[in-house]
Amino acid sequence: MRIRLFETQDAEQVAQLFHDTVRAVNIRDYSDSQVQAWAPDDIDFRNWLKVCSSRFTYVADDDGVIAGFGELEPNGHIDCFYCHKNYQRCGVGSQIYQAIEAKARELGLGRLFVEASITAKPFFQRMGFSVVKEQEVTRRGETFINYVMEKLL
Ligand SMILES: CC(C)(COP(=O)(O)OP(=O)(O)OC[C@H]1O[C@@H](n2cnc3c(N)ncnc32)[C@H](O)[C@@H]1OP(=O)(O)O)[C@@H](O)C(=O)NCCC(=O)NCCS
Repeated sequence: MRIRLFETQDAEQVAQLFHDTVRAVNIRDYSDSQVQAWAPDDIDFRNWLKVCSSRFTYVADDDGVIAGFGELEPNGHIDCFYCHKNYQRCGVGSQIYQAIEAKARELGLGRLFVEASITAKPFFQRMGFSVVKEQEVTRRGETFINYVMEKLL
């Protein structure tokens, strides 16, 4: 498993991974209509190439298979953070997170923060984050509970 920065050719796998993980993994904690709004049928609802290239996006590359990805914005916000549905709980998320934290320290950031799903909350707690607040957000007409979490560096 190699953790490296996102490259142009990763866009399609990243888009599919996001879609499949939300539909197969997050469905544990959210309803059918919620996961359909979160990961719409059209996997290109987001311009993955443009967005992933515009911040520090790390991918876990398992011999050509993208096993997970995580996005760090320059202000310390962790945006998308997803592991492949077939690579859950294998330590992939931890490795991507280590790369993000190392970059944050290199940038001199004092704080990392994330809006973690119910599904991802225990993972971020394990990475040393604490819950700032529970909140409701609305995406494409569906309302979701998630947790603003932060880690001071
Ligand atoms: C959150 C996510 C990225 C974590 O990635 P992962 O590769 O499965 O996590 P790891 O295997 O590195 O887990 C590291 C540690 O975190 C904790 N952890 C991870 N998932 C957990 C869970 N479901 N319940 C409890 N603890 C968990 C454990 O302590 C784990 O160590 P252990 O397996 O040795 O006990 C992954 O579960 C995922 O893709 N979730 C769905 C997408 C999502 O909700 N993303 C966040 C959007 S905000």
